[in-house]
Amino acid sequence: IILGVLASGRGSDLQSIIDAIENGQIKTKIGVVLTDKPEAMALERARKAGIPAVCVDRKKCSTKEEFEQKLVEQLKKYNVGLVVLAGFMRILSPYFVNEFKNCILNIHPSLLPSFGGAHAHRDVLAYGVKVSGCTVHFVDEGMDSGPIIMQKAVPVLDDDTEETLSARVLEQEHIIYPKVIELYLAGKIHVNGRHVTIDD
Ligand code: GRF
Repeated sequence: IILGVLASGRGSDLQSIIDAIENGQIKTKIGVVLTDKPEAMALERARKAGIPAVCVDRKKCSTKEEFEQKLVEQLKKYNVGLVVLAGFMRILSPYFVNEFKNCILNIHPSLLPSFGGAHAHRDVLAYGVKVSGCTVHFVDEGMDSGPIIMQKAVPVLDDDTEETLSARVLEQEHIIYPKVIELYLAGKIHVNGRHVTIDD
């Protein structure tokens, strides 16, 4: 199963996957890295690792359909069997989700179903919860709503800022995302409706 990674920005989650492939934890390759923005640092990280990197500029597509068709075209061109969203800041339509049913993973920087959306850390701090974390889940048609595969909690500290909290959460993201991909490739992850089980 070849991976296709979709990213919009910095690409530190992408980097954790590249590193896990290089150190042998993840036993496959990334066929292509796709971004929706030409300035995404993820493109450089991919190229540095020798991975094809393509920007499908959302601003140059007149419709969401056109944008997603181009993404799907690239993913098929590189024989991608597992789509990995890594800081990809666009909601995928049912068309895209159906093209890769149960084969799309996302990571979100909160303990879902709390604090979905684009400003998780800000919302966590504003609410005053004492525990946050990250969630890896399958992607369905909703936003941050698919079956949960793995979560890791971290404390929220009194003097946290978005920066300090996100750094603490990212450290765990970079551990659990490669782990989930490893387990997925080993056929150890099973979905039954909303419920995901992992073989040990
Ligand atoms: C991560 O916090 C991830 O959970 C969220 O977007 C951020 C991406 O960071 N979906 P990076 O671009 O991988 O560094």
